[in-house]
Amino acid sequence: MGALSVKHLLGIKYLKTSDIQTIFSTADRFKEVLSRPIKKIPSLRDITIANLFFENSTRTRISFELAEKRLSADIVNFSASSSSVKKGETLIDTVNNILAMKVDMVVMRHPAPGAPVLLSRHIDANIINAGDGINEHPTQALLDAYSIRERIGCVAGKKIVIVGDIMHSRVALSNIFCLKKLGAKVMLCGPPTLIPKFIDTLGIIVEYDIRKALEWCDVANILRIQLERMEHTADGKTVRYFPSLREYALYYGVNKQLLDSLKNEVIIMHPGPINRGVEITSNVADSKQSIILDQVENGVAIRMAVLYLLAGKVME
Ligand code: CP
Repeated sequence: MGALSVKHLLGIKYLKTSDIQTIFSTADRFKEVLSRPIKKIPSLRDITIANLFFENSTRTRISFELAEKRLSADIVNFSASSSSVKKGETLIDTVNNILAMKVDMVVMRHPAPGAPVLLSRHIDANIINAGDGINEHPTQALLDAYSIRERIGCVAGKKIVIVGDIMHSRVALSNIFCLKKLGAKVMLCGPPTLIPKFIDTLGIIVEYDIRKALEWCDVANILRIQLERMEHTADGKTVRYFPSLREYALYYGVNKQLLDSLKNEVIIMHPGPINRGVEITSNVADSKQSIILDQVENGVAIRMAVLYLLAGKVME
């Protein structure tokens, strides 16, 4: 098992397919560690990690923190809402001040696309992108592909549809890059207003009919409508990409009746947070077809693998 070809995890677009395979095989070893009664190993006891969250998170933040603790790293947590960012401090100044306290790695979520790339040009520490605006969310795509591999054996040749608000989704872009590198067939499905123009140039299929998309696929990754990333009009109202959430649910919501009417059994994924009753109904999210909680569980092993490999550690 070799080290990665990159110093930072800024996006899936910068990874080689062999990097993804190395992360997966390392995560396999950490899944075994996580099944033990004592889930902690000393691999990163010489490493200090800062978790910098400039945007809200539940899963990613807790998952990274758990991964770091399982590897015995020292960690510091930073939340923009309770920091000197509120007094006007810049991103580079904030991070350089934290690094002056001898931090080795930075996990960062930021609303601005490209913020982790900018940071990587100014600091020496390894940077892991935990989601940058509408750009990329690389560890989410890695845990998604890893969960598909776990459930159906491999990703190559499998048909995966990503459903919903593609336009505002960093999960969609990272998934497209990751799944394509692993040899999957990728389809996007959603209202035309939420699918970026020319996205088919990435070598993917676009389908606007949810039934046809579900009939085609092995796996459906259902995304949330990202109202918080949609533009606002001068009077403060959110720009409308579709008439109403009720209408969205009617045309693009994945419900049990729709799934049960298909000849094929579709594996259901969702990166969270879920808006139950909008993009997915509860009886689908909580069904046997759903691997949503497997995704969350696998997130810890994947993040352990990323941290371990970027710290320059190599498994025997
Ligand atoms: N999937 C995901 O990124 O969830 P959080 O926003 O809760 O971290």
